[in-house]
Amino acid sequence: MTHPLRLGIAGLGTVGMGVVKILHEKQALLKGRTGRSIEITAVSARTKDKDRGMILDAYAWEEDPVKLAQRDDIDIFVELMGGHEGSALEATKAAIASGKDLVTANKAMLAHHGHELALQSEKNGSVIRFEAAVAGGIPVIKSLTEGLAGNKIIRVMGVMNGTCNYILTQMQATGRGYNALFKECAELGFLEADPNLDVGGIDAGHKLSLLSSIAFGTQVNFDEMELEGIQRIELKDIEQAADMGFRIKLLGVAQMTERGLEQRMSPCLVPQNSPIGQLEGGTNMIVLEGDEVGQVFLRGAGAGQGPTASAVMSDIIEIARGTRLSTFGQPANTLEKAGSASSLTPAPYYIRLSLLDKPGALAKIATVLGQAGVSIDRMRQYGHEDKTAPVLIVTHETLPRALDQALRQIPATGMLDDTPVALRIENV
Ligand code: HSE
Repeated sequence: MTHPLRLGIAGLGTVGMGVVKILHEKQALLKGRTGRSIEITAVSARTKDKDRGMILDAYAWEEDPVKLAQRDDIDIFVELMGGHEGSALEATKAAIASGKDLVTANKAMLAHHGHELALQSEKNGSVIRFEAAVAGGIPVIKSLTEGLAGNKIIRVMGVMNGTCNYILTQMQATGRGYNALFKECAELGFLEADPNLDVGGIDAGHKLSLLSSIAFGTQVNFDEMELEGIQRIELKDIEQAADMGFRIKLLGVAQMTERGLEQRMSPCLVPQNSPIGQLEGGTNMIVLEGDEVGQVFLRGAGAGQGPTASAVMSDIIEIARGTRLSTFGQPANTLEKAGSASSLTPAPYYIRLSLLDKPGALAKIATVLGQAGVSIDRMRQYGHEDKTAPVLIVTHETLPRALDQALRQIPATGMLDDTPVALRIENV
């Protein structure tokens, strides 16, 4: 295959310009690796006249990304606009309808429309690749789709949002509260245009839903994921968890059970000396567990120009080499529609309570826990705050429904000063 591969790039922001830069600077290397030249034919972005640090006159300009997607002189439509509806989706559909291959970093679009887009593209004989959509520069899609293709995947886990990990690790390191760090992230430009995508766990949930589909051969099912963000994590949770030997992480876990697909993205405690516990700042980590290979850890930059453009380029190179994989690792029309299972897997829990400092308060709480079948492993009471006593309990492994029952009954003891906080502990 020696004819040039022609690209149409929609979106010339940080990632788009990172891709343009690699294509400029590494022509010889790319040709050596693929045996053909890779050329940009045309580009599109919201604003034409903007200093992007490079002259783009050599490329045709399209105001409308749909027109770019439909051009006869491109082979791959590289979608780097973002947003799960609107122009990105419209242009993607136009690209697929006109038989183009698609390379995208758009996790939200694929989490919401991935299955229908995969069905359509495979029917048309085109491919969709999305390495940059999950965990930035970490080659997790290729690891799962190709490197571990001989395994039954047991579990997929990981920290997939760098902004949340930055906030949580900086709370720990500096003793500053959530609100101060949220503000710092806004100033540093770390937050998505809608910050709730980051701190609400949605962005990470999108990523996990894509990994689940490949891992378990199921249709992407983001809507039924158990999802919780980091907004309610207080500095005292970070500090008290650390005191018990844990770190708090926004952790994604997906596994197939007899009851269906369990997918959750929520703040959890992990042992502080575990690989995930030691993950600092904006870094991501994914753990893939296969029945043959055991655990594989992937760690690296989850965002940023170089890392994300590196992932986009890996997809372009894959297509340039003539590799044509199904979007989610097997033909889209064979992906099962897995029922979602709410999380029934037992786990130890961290419970933080603010109790009224009265005789028998702790005994009443212990009785409720015992009656619900929740067994206490460790417990600490901290210095009194006025008339309340902060108490921290780590349970033995318990069923989520037993914990929920206890949490529903604890307020009736009349011993609480504040709503309890309960977080799952994952022994990663
Ligand atoms: N906002 C994401 C993060 C990067 O903080 O990890 C893009 O998904």
